[in-house]
Amino acid sequence: MDKILTTYNGQEFTVGGAILEFSYLLAAILFVYGLKLLSRPETARKGNFWAAAGMVLAMITTLLLHTDAGGNRIGITNAVVIIITVAAGSVLGLVISKRVKMTAMPQLVSFFNATGGLASALVGLLEFSNPHNQSLLVTLLGLIVGSIAFSGSMIAYGKLDGKIGNMGAAYMKYVNFLILAGLTVLTIYILMQPDPHSVGVFVYILFAAALIYGVLFVMPIGGADMPVVISLLNSLTGIAAALAGFIYSNEAMILGGILVGAAGSILTLLMCKAMNRSLLSVIIGGFGGGSSAEGDEGGTIKEISVSDAAILLAYSKKVVVVPGYGLAVAQAQHTVHELEKLLESKGVSVKFGIHPVAGRMPGHLNVLLAEADVSYDKLVEMDEINKEMETTDVVIVVGANDVVNPSANDHPGSPIYGMPIINAEQAKNVIVMKRGMGKGYAGIENPLFFRDNTRMLFGNAKDSIQKLVNEVNTL
Ligand code: TAP
Repeated sequence: MDKILTTYNGQEFTVGGAILEFSYLLAAILFVYGLKLLSRPETARKGNFWAAAGMVLAMITTLLLHTDAGGNRIGITNAVVIIITVAAGSVLGLVISKRVKMTAMPQLVSFFNATGGLASALVGLLEFSNPHNQSLLVTLLGLIVGSIAFSGSMIAYGKLDGKIGNMGAAYMKYVNFLILAGLTVLTIYILMQPDPHSVGVFVYILFAAALIYGVLFVMPIGGADMPVVISLLNSLTGIAAALAGFIYSNEAMILGGILVGAAGSILTLLMCKAMNRSLLSVIIGGFGGGSSAEGDEGGTIKEISVSDAAILLAYSKKVVVVPGYGLAVAQAQHTVHELEKLLESKGVSVKFGIHPVAGRMPGHLNVLLAEADVSYDKLVEMDEINKEMETTDVVIVVGANDVVNPSANDHPGSPIYGMPIINAEQAKNVIVMKRGMGKGYAGIENPLFFRDNTRMLFGNAKDSIQKLVNEVNTL
């Protein structure tokens, strides 16, 4: 394996090195192929498999063939530590992902993202004092970005899990700016030292300041803006991994990190668009804290009985189901599919209108409905379904709230003003299924519930739909 193939510019190229490079190329192709498959629900599982296969390949060849500056194979010299840590991590990951409930998926994603950020930050901390390390700027950047991604993701995890509430004041953005400026000045100061490797204490201060920034940056963000922050943190972890890859000149790490960073950035921008937020306001934090200032309507709520709802649905031509977070909580995906098949068998056209940020993670409802075997061509994106709203006889809102809140269109003072919504109110009839008058994620009133064409069917979404199925069956 160490046989020298050729020498170029004084550098030796060995058989092992060539195999290693080739395996990275193969891994890169598998990552990109996996990402491509991930873009469609039908092929997403395969995408995950192939991207993971690329990563396993890169890990194995790195451990067997990667050599350090002294020509030692790092995977062989540290074999025991590596085997123990990989085994412990794999067992933990397997147990956690088997046990996690679908509704707790966003928290898990945040937690895993935090571990990625921490790993990159630790690489930065360890490699800074390595006298052979020539890429000090990259090392410090990796340390800062990884630390922010770690502490920010842990706060996001706590918030999504309901353990941490929104905290923050208007002046927070100035504090955040100050810390960012401090991080920049300290980085320049460290790099300007005659022997930067010897000023370790400043590197620890940098580490601590970046951790604090991550906390303060995510802390005040709440309401409808959380998904943007999570995908932004995800892209930061990718960037941190790529920077760590530069330190080791490891192409697989660089490429994997860049792909995560780019995919996360694209998703961040798409989310910003879907929620009408500017990226700058996300970066400086302190917005969308979910004020309850709303003040619309009040008015009266009209309820509908299960039998009336069943008749209305069974004699409609066109029905659109708008699912939201409540469908995930109730695990009503199978029952709603049953209702869909039943109505279709009675000649009713049924479609699902999917809002890009319905639920608590990107694609949350797509995943749940796919699990229940709802056909993909029935899942219609927001812009497309909105075109059909006026010709829809009944919209059934199943545990959705913010994503159908008309305040986003016509209440300039609302925290969600400007966020595109599914215009359920434009349909001839709206049936809203929820347990009571609980608010949605943004914590604000929803005037849709008071509209003349809206009627409420209170109860757990799964129970209500099951009762509807039974009733429609008797018609
Ligand atoms: P939400 O606005 O959160 O509303 C969900 C509604 O479901 C609640 O009003 C609740 O009312 C009802 N509900 C809860 N459990 C239920 C059950 N068992 N049966 C029936 N109803 C139930 O949901 P949404 O419309 O899907 O909007 C999502 C929100 O989350 C948006 O603000 C979005 O920005 C935010 N968010 C999204 C993501 C992503 S990426 N998707 C990530 C984080 C945050 P009751 O209590 O009265 O039942």
